[in-house]
Parts: sequence; C-alpha cells; structure tokens
Amino acid sequence: MLYGVFSDVHSNYEALAAVLDYLEDLGVGGWICCGDLVGYGPDPDACLDRIRGLKNLSIICGNHDLAVLDRIELEWFNQYARAAVVWTRTNLSETNRAYLEGLTARLETPHFTLAHGTPRNPPEEYLMSPLQFRDNVPLVNKWPLFVGHSHMPLLFRYAEGEPDKVDFRFMEDKEEPLPRAADGVMGPVALNPGSVGQPRDQDNRASCGVYDSDKGTFRIFRVPYDVGVVQEKIRAAGLPEYLALRLAYGQ
Ligand SMILES: [Fe+2]
Repeated sequence: MLYGVFSDVHSNYEALAAVLDYLEDLGVGGWICCGDLVGYGPDPDACLDRIRGLKNLSIICGNHDLAVLDRIELEWFNQYARAAVVWTRTNLSETNRAYLEGLTARLETPHFTLAHGTPRNPPEEYLMSPLQFRDNVPLVNKWPLFVGHSHMPLLFRYAEGEPDKVDFRFMEDKEEPLPRAADGVMGPVALNPGSVGQPRDQDNRASCGVYDSDKGTFRIFRVPYDVGVVQEKIRAAGLPEYLALRLAYGQ
C-alpha cells in the first residue's frame, strides 16, 4: 500500500491542501501524520476539518497541539510560537479542540510507529543525531518509525553492511530503499517527511513523503503552494510578521 506521510502542518491550509491533493493524485490508500497540526499559521479549523476527513489515517499530536490544550509548558516556546499558541486557543472550534484532546504524541500500529519528536520523549526531543537514533532503537517494536518536529526531511538507519555506523542525512526527491530483511520484516529506520506548513531547510515548498509498504521504499516530494496568500492571512489575523516572512525563505 502507498501511505501519504506528512507532519507539522501548523495551520497552513494552502500548503496542506496542495500536499493532500498531490498525494491523492499519486493514489495513496492510507495516511500518516506526525503531529503539530496547529500553531504558527492562520487556519487551524480548516486544516483540522480536512485532516479529520482522511480515511485510514494514523495520527499523533505534537508539542504545539499540546500547548494549545495547555498540556505542555509554554516557557520553552519562543515569543512568536507562544503568540500563535495563545491566538489558536481562541480560534479553534470545540469539535477540533476535542479531536486534538483525543490524540497522543506516540502511536504504535501493527505496521509502523509514530512519534512527534522521539519515542523516548515524544512531544519534545528533536531527532537530529546518530546517537539519539541509537538510543531510541530499543524503544521501537514496529519499523519504520515516522517522526516530525524538526521540520527537516531526514533519514536515520544503520549503514548497509556497516551496522556500527548510522547513515544520517537529508532526503531529496528520490526513492530511498529501506532496510527490509528477506523475510519482509523492516529493520530500524526513522523517517521525517519534513514540514507541510513551515519547512526549515531553505526550500519554501511544502514537504511530504510516500511510504510504499509493498516495495519497502520511502520518497520525499516537495509541493509548491501560494505562500503569499498564507502570508496575507497571517497578517490579517494579527499574528507576528516574522511568521509570515519565514515562510518565503523556508526557515
Ligand atoms: Fe512543528
């Protein structure tokens, strides 16, 4: 089956719609969402309404979702993120608030595992180094592990033929074979599809991925959308100007 994999939507509806339309056209039959549905952007309800309608969806929440629900301390958030969390609290329907309340920051399915940050500390730890990957491997039962949080399309796995070495790198738009054994069991691999609504790798196109569970591959796709429309909505909502500017630069 093809799974559409996406994360860190951050209330950016134009980016979300572009990504979902693109992935639907590719024929995905299931969806994987790694959290941070809201925060930063101007369209929390539109994003959640669309996400709630996806069929065969495995989904978790992220630290921004938990902050909107007042379940995580705001002191670690920068001033722009904090302002957006406070704004979102008063611009979210009861239905969508209840939906967020039903999500966890880590989820294991019979086919894969989701954690917003890491399995060890799902809402807050950024998976950014080989050492963190090694530390988290014993905490996962079902591979692949899909993560978000860093807003970067990243891959972590043990290097082919060199189990002492971690292959850790940015993914570009090309098919990545995953470490699947001859018996079909997937080995340790962590995949971050990058961010839909606020990419931070200096590419302002929305980022997403496709996991092909039959072939055992993963591929990143970058999807352009109308950044200017979202910037105007951010300004009209009274959210910080910095949140509009950074979208143009992919930062
Ligand atoms: Fe995020």
